[in-house]
Amino acid sequence: MPNREDVHVDRTEQLAHSAAVVDGSNAQQALFFEGPEGIGKTRLLREIHRRHVAAGVYYVDLERVVEKDDVLRDLARQARRQDVPVPGYQAVRSQIAQSSTATVNVHDMRARNANIQMVVNTSRDHKIQLDAMSDALLDTLAGDPHNPVICLDGFEHCEAPMRDWLGTDLLPDLLSRRGTSVFVAGRHVPRLAYPHVTAVHTMVLPPFGIDAVEEWITTLGFDSLKGQATSIHRSHHGIPGLIREFLDLHIEPLGTG
Ligand SMILES: Nc1ncnc2c1ncn2[C@@H]1O[C@H](COP(=O)(O)OP(=O)(O)O)[C@@H](O)[C@H]1O
Ligand SMILES: [Mg+2]
Repeated sequence: MPNREDVHVDRTEQLAHSAAVVDGSNAQQALFFEGPEGIGKTRLLREIHRRHVAAGVYYVDLERVVEKDDVLRDLARQARRQDVPVPGYQAVRSQIAQSSTATVNVHDMRARNANIQMVVNTSRDHKIQLDAMSDALLDTLAGDPHNPVICLDGFEHCEAPMRDWLGTDLLPDLLSRRGTSVFVAGRHVPRLAYPHVTAVHTMVLPPFGIDAVEEWITTLGFDSLKGQATSIHRSHHGIPGLIREFLDLHIEPLGTG
């Protein structure tokens, strides 16, 4: 009997679409999965990740990152683990810092708006650094001969600045690199501007059907639940997260299964 944790019911349609995105036979380069809590978004991204390890694959849980730099750092860390030699974050950062401080002319600042100016310069410098870091990273990550698969999970957890940056900077940057495939999941997903939006196909993740529940029960070897797929499906609205909780509590009578 397989481990409860390991049982995976294939989302055939979504996985077929994903495979087509990765192998380039799909017109779109990105798939966005939208759906409520517990519908199986993370599980689906994990499965896509598992299936494309050979391509060079990245998974970022956006719920766990606060700063934009953290997304890049996370990608860089995963790249190094896959033997993709990305430039060190600190190295690029100090290189950019040196070249951009020279452009700030301190004597132009008037005393009364010095503070504002400082803030403007600091954030502008940070934006320059971030862009440079992003370029350097993506050049390596998605440069020849790599065709990376990038999965971003939990988009709804992003604060507005992160959401905007992903929608106007990182995602368009990724999509501008041929051979890169992007998968984003969330209770809601980014809305990209034209022309990037044409590279995206959005799929709403539906609840499981009765057949999926039946398959799940069978794979677990829960003989005592056979024939109950319909009622389990109905009482949990087909939501995998709720069905999972139910199955986690199930104890199969001894001698069966
Ligand atoms: N295709 C699937 N096969 C097996 N279990 C699944 C599947 N999809 C979701 N689950 C289970 O349902 C629960 C909720 O799924 P999750 O991916 O965390 O949902 P979401 O990310 O949409 O909130 C998890 O315990 C997960 O293992
Ligand atoms: Mg999730």
